Amino acid sequence: MSIRIAMLGCGTVGAEVVRLLHEQAGDLAARVGGGIELAGIAVRRPNRHPDVPQELLTTDAAGLVASDVDVVVEVIGGIEPARTLLTDALRAGKSVVTANKALLAEHAADLFAAADSAGADLYFEAAVAGAIPLLRPLRESLAGDRITRVMGIVNGTTNYILSAMDSSGAGYAETLDEASRLGYAEADPTADVDGYDAASKAAILASIAFHTRVTAADVYREGITAVTPADVAAARTLGRTIKLLAICERVANGDDGAEAVAVRVHPAMIPRTHPLAGVGGAFNAVFVEADAAGSLMFYGQGAGGSPTASAVLGDLVAVARNKVVGGRGPGESSYAALPVQPISQVDTRYHISLDVADRAGVLSAVAAVFAEHDVSIAAVRQQGRSTDASLVIVTHSAPDAALRSTVDKIAGLPVVHEVVSVMRVEGEEQ
Ligand SMILES: NC(=O)c1ccc[n+]([C@@H]2O[C@H](COP(=O)([O-])OP(=O)(O)OC[C@H]3O[C@@H](n4cnc5c(N)ncnc54)[C@H](OP(=O)(O)O)[C@@H]3O)[C@@H](O)[C@H]2O)c1
Repeated sequence: MSIRIAMLGCGTVGAEVVRLLHEQAGDLAARVGGGIELAGIAVRRPNRHPDVPQELLTTDAAGLVASDVDVVVEVIGGIEPARTLLTDALRAGKSVVTANKALLAEHAADLFAAADSAGADLYFEAAVAGAIPLLRPLRESLAGDRITRVMGIVNGTTNYILSAMDSSGAGYAETLDEASRLGYAEADPTADVDGYDAASKAAILASIAFHTRVTAADVYREGITAVTPADVAAARTLGRTIKLLAICERVANGDDGAEAVAVRVHPAMIPRTHPLAGVGGAFNAVFVEADAAGSLMFYGQGAGGSPTASAVLGDLVAVARNKVVGGRGPGESSYAALPVQPISQVDTRYHISLDVADRAGVLSAVAAVFAEHDVSIAAVRQQGRSTDASLVIVTHSAPDAALRSTVDKIAGLPVVHEVVSVMRVEGEEQ
């Protein structure tokens, strides 16, 4: 039996998939238990692809999907036409492998419904953290455990920028320029630096980890554009570093034992001793906590043509094998249907750095605002200068809304000259 494959897209990832399919044809066939045949490659501009067999190229993606193929590999990206093409493929019983995080984070439920209707597979390991095997471990290896938290660095561009700001002390804008020059940031870096890419990945991770439908719109999102050298310096002084984290948590929902999920993406200070602190440059890492397994860490290359193609090919072998033996991989698991908790109710911790007047009574005025909002202080450090002083406060965990209101009120105190830095703190005891 031979499995016929339609490739949609042949860019950074697709070209590597095509290359590996060709170079490893023999091994892949042995692993699948049947031949793999590339039936066609849909692109927008055929003349831009001199390195692939020209007879396979087509601009008619819909025609290719409708032709006699068993598996559709989608590496076009974006919502349309990918959504329509993949829905049509799944409804026709063709299994789908995709790297498209934006599509999965918005339309996973519809795509899984289409897959279920015709008994097809929908695999998307490459959509989160590139080469790192993460979704399959969550979906299959940890299927018998109870995952409580998934926290990770899932965007290489922002991790590169924050790592560079940490080591050089430079500002965000100049570090972004350098990242663009070196090819670590796209010409339009919005999806990365504003946290949209990480939010899509967080939605996918939370959906799988907590057996609950979570879309990108459910994810609280802050990017890195407001991170200042003062924030970076404040973190360093306290033995911490700043990372853009995707955090998916199982949380209490009221006092009756009910649960909810909280999913957020924002920069946070973590201790330099935390395993995620050592993840530099464009690498990704995800820390998973489960009741029985304890803590697990997944680390590796989160993007790039060849690392991402590795994940695509792993899925391709899995769905092709399922076709050969006549089975199906796991479908959507959303039975828990937990509610999503808004950020205002999520317990977080803040680091707050203030410029204050250097005189008696300042600390008690500031502390009174914390008490008024029922936010307790974990550590405080005051350092006098000539006419003013710096005051650094790290809180215990409290609802995010209470912490925000506390900061707003403190900013208006006459003794506070400036709120120098406000940053959430993660990765240590609450
Ligand atoms: N790049 C990475 O490191 C990475 C990592 C993880 C996941 N991903 C995901 O992988 C997917 C592909 O990313 P990429 O970086 O490979 O993108 P890319 O380099 O921009 O390639 C996109 C490909 O899709 C083709 N295409 C675009 N619109 C099309 C249409 N309407 N019909 C047919 N073909 C069309 C393009 O054709 P032309 O070449 O002819 O224009 C191009 O070959 C995205 O979902 C992305 O999020 C990428």
